[in-house]
Amino acid sequence: MRELLAKSVAALTAVIVVGLAAAFSFVHNAPSPGDARPKAQEAVPQSQSPAAVGRAAYDRNGCAGCHAIGGQGNPRSPLDGVGRRLAPDAIRDWMVASDRVRPRFSAAVARIKERYAALPGEELQAMVDYLASLHALADIRRAEEGNATSAK
Ligand code: HEC
Repeated sequence: MRELLAKSVAALTAVIVVGLAAAFSFVHNAPSPGDARPKAQEAVPQSQSPAAVGRAAYDRNGCAGCHAIGGQGNPRSPLDGVGRRLAPDAIRDWMVASDRVRPRFSAAVARIKERYAALPGEELQAMVDYLASLHALADIRRAEEGNATSAK
């Protein structure tokens, strides 16, 4: 009986801790309009480089569920070198399934991507900037990995 009580208390404590952590991270990542500087740097305390800010947003928004960069994520749609293939405006169109490209997506994917359009503008911009820079990053990473066989 006593053990059961202790277990319940422990479980409840875990739930509270996780809940508080989630609330804390939500408050800290909440967009504050009017602040022109990207605050995603809080998610990446070590580095404030624009690429790191954009990368953090990419991670946060689950893009890797469908895309891979440097061999990490879903290999079906690699984004390595996307900055070389697409202009920043086009990257944004594809990221949020804008009217210009929506017919190219299945309804299910379009629905997921359209939700990104509601993200704070600076978060979208950070991801566009990050992806636009990927021609360089992919090259660096490939060099670091000793030119491992490319997914494509
Ligand atoms: C549910 C799956 C899914 C998610 C989640 C998703 N995408 Fe996509 N994305 C696709 C598909 C499918 C394409 C079509 C092109 C392809 O197959 O490579 C695409 C295309 C793109 C392209 C154009 C790629 C190219 O080479 O032409 C970019 C850029 C892009 N997505 C960015 C993002 C970003 C940034 C996120 C996260 C904010 C994201 N996507 C989330 C499925 C997804």
